[in-house]
Amino acid sequence: MDDDAKDDHQNRPAALGCAIAGTSVNLPGIEPATCFRSSGLTKVYGSGHSAVHALRGVDLELPERELVVLLGASGSGKSTLLNILGGLDRPTDGRLWFRGEELTGASQRELTQYRRRHVGFVFQFYNLMASLTARENVALVTEIAEKPLSPEEALTIVGLEKRLDHFPSQLSGGEQQRVAIARAIAKQPSVLLCDEPTGALDSATGVRVLEALRDVNEKMQATTLLITHNAPVAAMADRVITFSDGRIREQKRNEHRKDPKEISW
Ligand SMILES: Nc1ncnc2c1ncn2[C@@H]1O[C@H](COP(=O)(O)OP(=O)(O)O)[C@@H](O)[C@H]1O
Ligand SMILES: [Mg+2]
Repeated sequence: MDDDAKDDHQNRPAALGCAIAGTSVNLPGIEPATCFRSSGLTKVYGSGHSAVHALRGVDLELPERELVVLLGASGSGKSTLLNILGGLDRPTDGRLWFRGEELTGASQRELTQYRRRHVGFVFQFYNLMASLTARENVALVTEIAEKPLSPEEALTIVGLEKRLDHFPSQLSGGEQQRVAIARAIAKQPSVLLCDEPTGALDSATGVRVLEALRDVNEKMQATTLLITHNAPVAAMADRVITFSDGRIREQKRNEHRKDPKEISW
């Protein structure tokens, strides 16, 4: 028997599964405008002497549609948190809710469904198919999504409407990353999780990528989490979370978001 078949949801309350399935959910006691909420999120890799405490109790409340920048030194637990929010990994302890529905109680199948339906990922390395054009790389996703943008629409949002038929080798690093962003947003995700998307880019090129992310956040209203170790990038955020040693050290809201054009590092 596979893992999925072992999951038994017969006894679940009817409301569970709504947010993951994409229908509306409004559980009592939780603001509907909250995208993610976590309490005591903990992640330990390994055990005994070799145990690594990547998250040491993270309490979060992220409203829908915000652009959130997550800052912190290398090894502070940023990617671990992003992977857990995106349903790629599970915490060792603590609880996590997406739109009022508990992800920490979800089965493997529900987590997969949640990821497919709601989450767009952008990583430092673009992972584009070298033998496919920009349009075809995005089409790989739109062919299997429910309410996708067309590849042309997605590529226009990131400013690549003139590069539809270019292959990755004919595009700059920043342009390739924007194709990867177009691929991530084509399925119209509820949340866009970006792990060091400018990590391999120089400042000027990185700014174009940040502009694309800002445009996506504004036009598509996806709650956007952007991990970076470049502190000046925090100025473009609604909310800045500073991480160290597996904990949130500081959280602040910016009165005004700076245009990425005004940012350099
Ligand atoms: N799969 C893993 N197995 C063991 N340790 C890991 C694993 N992934 C991350 N870690 C450790 O967890 C800590 C946090 O890692 P990570 O979340 O990648 O930090 P960041 O993204 O802030 O650089 C680091 O000490 C890292 O070495
Ligand atoms: Mg990381």
